[in-house]
Order: sequence, then structure tokens, then C-alpha cells
Amino acid sequence: MSIITVNDVNKHFADNHVLKGINLSVSQGEGVILLGANGCGKSTLMRSICGLTPIDSGDIQIHGQSMIKARQREIRAMRRQVGVVFQRFNLVGNLSVFQNVLYGALGGERLGLLGCMAPFASQANREKAMACLERVKLANKAEQKADQLSGGQQQRVAIARMLMQEPPVVLADEPIASLDPKSGREVMELLWEVTKERGLTVVCTLHHLDVALQYGDRFIGMLNGKVHIDAPRNEVTKEQLEALYIHEKAEEQDSVLNDFTPATAVA
Ligand SMILES: Nc1ncnc2c1ncn2[C@@H]1O[C@H](COP(=O)(O)OP(=O)(O)OP(=O)(O)O)[C@@H](O)[C@H]1O
Ligand SMILES: [Mg+2]
Repeated sequence: MSIITVNDVNKHFADNHVLKGINLSVSQGEGVILLGANGCGKSTLMRSICGLTPIDSGDIQIHGQSMIKARQREIRAMRRQVGVVFQRFNLVGNLSVFQNVLYGALGGERLGLLGCMAPFASQANREKAMACLERVKLANKAEQKADQLSGGQQQRVAIARMLMQEPPVVLADEPIASLDPKSGREVMELLWEVTKERGLTVVCTLHHLDVALQYGDRFIGMLNGKVHIDAPRNEVTKEQLEALYIHEKAEEQDSVLNDFTPATAVA
């Protein structure tokens, strides 16, 4: 069953046509890596899927429910089904690690109230927040201010916060772009482990092709606002994925890109 359905989605920023008729369907438990050169529209697509960027036309459905037709209250409920992990962690730096994770239970809203609400959080939620921190091996940092942690640790807190939310869908937009190679791999390993063990659906953008090839069950390659490649890992080659970057400004007549056909397996 399709958990994320993107149907003929278009998005402009002024006269910049950023998403040009995007169609996608992602099933439960799939781990999708979204690739493409700078500015091809990956983040815009991700932000549209989680309801942060309104689209011009087309439809986006989560669990078969249209994000476009939903009313404001329904949109809030739908957003709670989509956990996000961003490049810049998006933690509240002057709150404790524990409070940041507890905030995940509030569904990404009402940040300003958090300081006052945390002391009144239920015992069940407090225990759950600690369990999420234990899962990312940061229970010992619970009381520390979030901005005192290293980048890798902060991203692990962001993963714990996402787990707290218990979303069926996770969108990770360049989750390792701000990290050194070692921390980046640790975070990617953790993200994939926790989502696989819970059967979550993940769409993750990455710029590191070698890392991407280690994790993706399926690769979606965008080029100039369109889906150019959409294939399971055993049907796409590294060269085909690399071509997305080499030919980033290529127009449709470029024969290499027009020739994408599911092919031999990646190593
Ligand atoms: N809020 C905005 N206002 C105006 N233009 C925008 C906005 N957000 C994105 N764009 C433009 O839309 C296009 C796609 O941007 P987007 O951030 O989706 O690309 P991307 O594939 O995520 O790139 P990167 O790999 O650098 O993160 C770019 O031309 C960008 O300048
Ligand atoms: Mg981006």
C-alpha cells in the first residue's frame, strides 16, 4: 500500500518552475534515497510532502488522505504522521536534550509553550522520551543544553525527537550534510536502524553517493524539477546516478539522460 503518493505536483517560486509534474508512490517500510544536483527541487518536494510548502497544482496524499484537500485541523494531524530530520538539527538550543525530545510528542507545534509545559508532561511521556534517548545512546546527556552537544550528538537527539513523535513516515533532508564523515556515517546507520526496526517509511536526501548506495532500497533521481530516475537498487547503476550531477543543467535532448533504463545492479 502506498503511504506517500505524489500526483502531478507543480510548484513555482515566482517564474521559477521548481517542481514540474512530479509523480511518486512510496510504500510502507521503503527506504528511499532522493538524489539530484543543488537546486533541482529535492527540499521543495520534501517540504511539500510534509505540508510546509504549498504546491500550485496536483495532489499529495499521506495514507490515502489528501494533504491538499485537508482542512487546517486535518493538516496538523497529517503533519504529525510525518517526522522530519533536517540538516541543521532544528533543536531548541537553550532547552535541555530531554525537553527537546519531549517536544516531539507535541507534534512539532507550540514550541513557545514548551518551557512551561515540560514540567507537566505525563509520566508516560517522560519515560518514553528517556527511552528514545536511550535508543540513540544519549540518555547520559538528557539534562545538558542541546547547543552544548556536538553536531553528531545533536542529530541523534533530533532522531530521538522524531521517534518520540512515532510517525509512520520520516523525511530526512540532508541529515548528514553538516557532519564529518565518521559522525555522518554513525547518524546514517542509526537513522536506518531505527526506521527499519520500526518498519517506518523513509525518504532521505543525500549528496554522498557512496553513502546513499549503502542504504537505499530505492533511488529517486531528480533533474531540473522532474523525476528522472525511479528504480530499486538492483536496477540502477552508480554511473546513472552520477550522471544526475554531471548533467545537472542538461536539457531534455541530452541523450545520456534520455537513455535511462533500469539496468544492472549497483555494487
Ligand atoms: N522559499 C523559496 N523562495 C524562492 N525560491 C526558492 C525557495 N525555496 C527554494 N527556491 C528555489 O527553488 C529551487 C529548488 O530549491 P531546493 O531547495 O528545492 O533545491 P534542492 O534540490 O534541495 O537543492 P540543494 O541540493 O542545494 O539542497 C532553487 O532554484 C531555489 O532557489
Ligand atoms: Mg535541499
